Amino acid sequence: MTNPARYIKEIQTPCYIYDLNAILARISLLRKHLPANAALYYAVKANSNLHLLKALAGQVDGLDISSGGEFTQCLLAGHLPQNFSFAGPGKTTAEIELAIKSACGSLSAESPDDLKRIDSTAQKLGRPAYVSLRVNPEKLNEYFALKMGGKASQFGFDEESLKTPPKLKNSQIVGLHIYAGTQSLSVEGLKENLQNTFALMEKLSKRLKLRIRQLNIGGGFGVDYFAGQKPLEAAAVCRALSKEAIRHPALKIILELGRYLAAPAGYYLCRVLNIKKSRGKTFVITDGGMHHNQSASGNLGQIIKKNHKITNLTRPRSAKLKVELVGCLCTPLDTLGWGLELARPRVGDILCVHNSGAYGYTASPLLFLGHPTPPEYLIEGNRLKLIRPGRCLQEFN
Ligand SMILES: Cc1ncc(COP(=O)(O)O)c(C=O)c1O
Repeated sequence: MTNPARYIKEIQTPCYIYDLNAILARISLLRKHLPANAALYYAVKANSNLHLLKALAGQVDGLDISSGGEFTQCLLAGHLPQNFSFAGPGKTTAEIELAIKSACGSLSAESPDDLKRIDSTAQKLGRPAYVSLRVNPEKLNEYFALKMGGKASQFGFDEESLKTPPKLKNSQIVGLHIYAGTQSLSVEGLKENLQNTFALMEKLSKRLKLRIRQLNIGGGFGVDYFAGQKPLEAAAVCRALSKEAIRHPALKIILELGRYLAAPAGYYLCRVLNIKKSRGKTFVITDGGMHHNQSASGNLGQIIKKNHKITNLTRPRSAKLKVELVGCLCTPLDTLGWGLELARPRVGDILCVHNSGAYGYTASPLLFLGHPTPPEYLIEGNRLKLIRPGRCLQEFN
């Protein structure tokens, strides 16, 4: 991994730095262990920066897309729509039209109404829609930090509701999409999920008399964000997938990963503006915050707030000090570290929040309080390149 401290003289804070080599290394590790009939897709929602997407063209087999905006961004980046899997519980007719006109690889149908709209749009356009039926499994998998299936949900058809083959005029069902949850660090949990997913596919293909050509097993490979967590042994999960895949050699298995590929490759850098004591605590106030990195602030679905790995790039070897690390916003929610042991900072130091490459820029309320958006840089080889400038509030008018 590249040390982001190398680049502190070349950047403006607050900012993101992404290390392309780190993403490519993860892709090649997975490829070494995945079965031949598995396609490795990248989940664009994790990080949709155009230059990053361009750099991933030819490196991944396809993309998980969630909106017309992401769809167009990926076309701009040079990816082929035949390799897109477009999912989302609320696709508009315009988005469905875009997908069908572009011969999108598969559109996940998430409910009876969604399927009806996909089919009628295909009929209106006189072009086929390639549909993946998204299924919300009955079984809950406890190992995912955020569960997408196994409960009442807006995502997919409840497994038990799928009793008869859907009647379609202009759509072909190419397969199933079964994505049970995100952020699992447990090999056992992910193995169990694979077994359940394949068993469900076999059950539904018989019950619905479907010839399933494609099985999308979603994402969910976790990242060790917090102290005490061990990195996921992704190779072991890929080997478990090979065991399932061997019984279905003609099936295209789509694994669509966001967090696992992008998070460890991203650094969020901010600068210390003020240091203040209040009632026995030391507050380190930075020019960054939750408006840029909602995930690290703990406001993106974390129940118990825990600290990401955060380091002082300017003064890495100074003695540790317990601090409350906060951003510059006028809300107590704007915290980046609680009781954080940090190499004693001074005003002007640059701090780094690690594992920030996924669901950072894309999942944050960037305009909240009207500060500029953070510029983004990409390390390609050894060179740092500005890949999106910061934008001030007035540029969104
Ligand atoms: C349909 C779908 N696929 C893939 C992903 C990526 O998940 P992860 O980042 O856990 O790999 C998501 C994330 O929400 C998703 O909704």
